[in-house]
Amino acid sequence: MMTKKMRIAIVGCGDIAGFTAMFARLNRNIVMTACCDVSRERAEAFSRRHGIAQVFTDYAKMLANAPLDAVYLAVPHNLHFEMMQLAIAAGRHILVEKPFTRLQAEGIEIVQMAENAGVKVAVNYQYRYDAGCFRLARAVQSGQIGEVRHARINIPWHREPNYFEMSTWHKSMAQAGGGTLITQGSHFLDVTLWACGSHPAHAIGMTAQRVFKSVEVEDLAMGILELENGALIELCSSMATASEQATSIEIYGSKGTAIYTDHPWPRVRFIGIRVKAEAVPILGLHALQRSIEGFRRWVDGGNPHLVTGRESLPVLAAVEAIYRSARSGKREPVEAGKISI
Ligand SMILES: NC(=O)c1ccc[n+]([C@@H]2O[C@H](COP(=O)([O-])OP(=O)(O)OC[C@H]3O[C@@H](n4cnc5c(N)ncnc54)[C@H](O)[C@@H]3O)[C@@H](O)[C@H]2O)c1
Repeated sequence: MMTKKMRIAIVGCGDIAGFTAMFARLNRNIVMTACCDVSRERAEAFSRRHGIAQVFTDYAKMLANAPLDAVYLAVPHNLHFEMMQLAIAAGRHILVEKPFTRLQAEGIEIVQMAENAGVKVAVNYQYRYDAGCFRLARAVQSGQIGEVRHARINIPWHREPNYFEMSTWHKSMAQAGGGTLITQGSHFLDVTLWACGSHPAHAIGMTAQRVFKSVEVEDLAMGILELENGALIELCSSMATASEQATSIEIYGSKGTAIYTDHPWPRVRFIGIRVKAEAVPILGLHALQRSIEGFRRWVDGGNPHLVTGRESLPVLAAVEAIYRSARSGKREPVEAGKISI
């Protein structure tokens, strides 16, 4: 058990890091000892805004010199793998932004390295800590809606052109690994797979560029997953809607139905059954705040974060298979990888 505050460095001082730092500051048991960005200007502005003592532009130097228990990685997707390898070699625990890695094979390597080194790796799929998503998942996992027959996920989001202009890595297949499916859709696919408790076995997918034609990644993705237990999941992930609409997850069981929506606030409705709903075990204003505290508790010897690296492998495998099917035009197997997931 740690007797002092968890010392963490923020790596990548961009969009999401600002929210994470805000919630880390509200946590009396966390201290941000360093921040790092390749842009010195960004890193310095970030350190002033959040009262962070040490500023770095070189991640390896930061790992060697800053007083740290853990790192929070909020950088383009292609950097997650290499930065986690370096953090594990330095014996630092990791909270990495989603997706865990760009490719499932990289994720498997990190899980093995981290488990061998005794390093804790959590993935910031914070929707597992969302009040509605958590209740939905726990009710389904405990069998209260019966045997899951099928599920439907809808993410009708909107992005302005500055989404690609402000963070140009979003445009690049090599850096982002894909568009709306890996970046946004994977959040809710992760929750649904967690709820259904069965591994994805086969995938059919299609992707399109309906609005953003000059980038390399899709702004619309649709997929169907067949789980090992026979249930089907249908997914529509979009950043091409004219205005953002409510996100939803519908899970249809043999006894009843569970419907999650995030609008006007995150909640789940149960239809046809009485459910003893379980509340998220960590208090907080926001899922992101609870996810960070969940990581801190794990580092401090408490229960694992709800999304360990290992827990995050099924969604990577599913996303990869949907993309593979979109390219091949065929129903594709979901590769379970070399370690049991
Ligand atoms: N959990 C969520 O809800 C959520 C929301 C948004 C983004 N994200 C994830 O967070 C990550 C970052 O996304 P973002 O929107 O904040 O991107 P961003 O472009 O706003 O910020 C990324 C930052 O990383 C910096 N950077 C790039 N290379 C670096 C390096 N080698 N060393 C140090 N810094 C480097 C960039 O200069 C930039 O400041 C991605 O994995 C993304 O998918 C998660």
